Amino acid sequence: MMRRHTTFQLTLVEAEAKPMKIALYQPDIPQNTGTMLRMCACLGIQAHVIGPAGFDFSDRALRRAGLDYLAHVDLARHASWSDYLAERSAKTDGGRLVLLTTHAELRYTDFRFAAADTLLLGRESAGVPDDVHATADARIRIPVRTGLRSLNVAVAAAIATGEALRQTGAL
Ligand SMILES: C[S@@+](CC[C@H](N)C(=O)[O-])C[C@H]1O[C@@H](n2cnc3c(N)ncnc32)[C@H](O)[C@@H]1O
Repeated sequence: MMRRHTTFQLTLVEAEAKPMKIALYQPDIPQNTGTMLRMCACLGIQAHVIGPAGFDFSDRALRRAGLDYLAHVDLARHASWSDYLAERSAKTDGGRLVLLTTHAELRYTDFRFAAADTLLLGRESAGVPDDVHATADARIRIPVRTGLRSLNVAVAAAIATGEALRQTGAL
């Protein structure tokens, strides 16, 4: 019993220490954002939501949408892409911006993730515009079967996050 308690505490400490980040570009669907924020809460990953979003992403609205993990997420909100970039350039953690996109050549399993990377996810309806695509330091894709368009954004985030944490020894 005591042993189980100790293991649980260690897991929490590890989860709080991860420098990996996730950024959501102008998300459209609150349930997807809720799923990704819950993943960030559980795994100890910082979340950035870049507006304008297709819904109200104030604390109150997110709680009303059923996100009861909100208190456990390290969440930063940015009014626009340019605000987000300005804040990133003011910080010097050396982390790269890694865009998940169906338009990349590189498979996510062939990419070498680093602990300080930010995984950037596009909006459900349209991905990201060309300038955001070009700004990313790297672009990666999760292969899907021929003829099928894309994964749900929260599923794509979970697959890439799992691989990134596995590679960096943080999972
Ligand atoms: C529903 S998809 C957007 C589809 C959009 N029509 C496009 O062409 O980008 C939403 C986001 O999920 C991520 N995503 C979905 N499937 C993916 C895949 N197979 N590989 C990499 N990222 C993916 C991307 O970040 C994408 O911008």
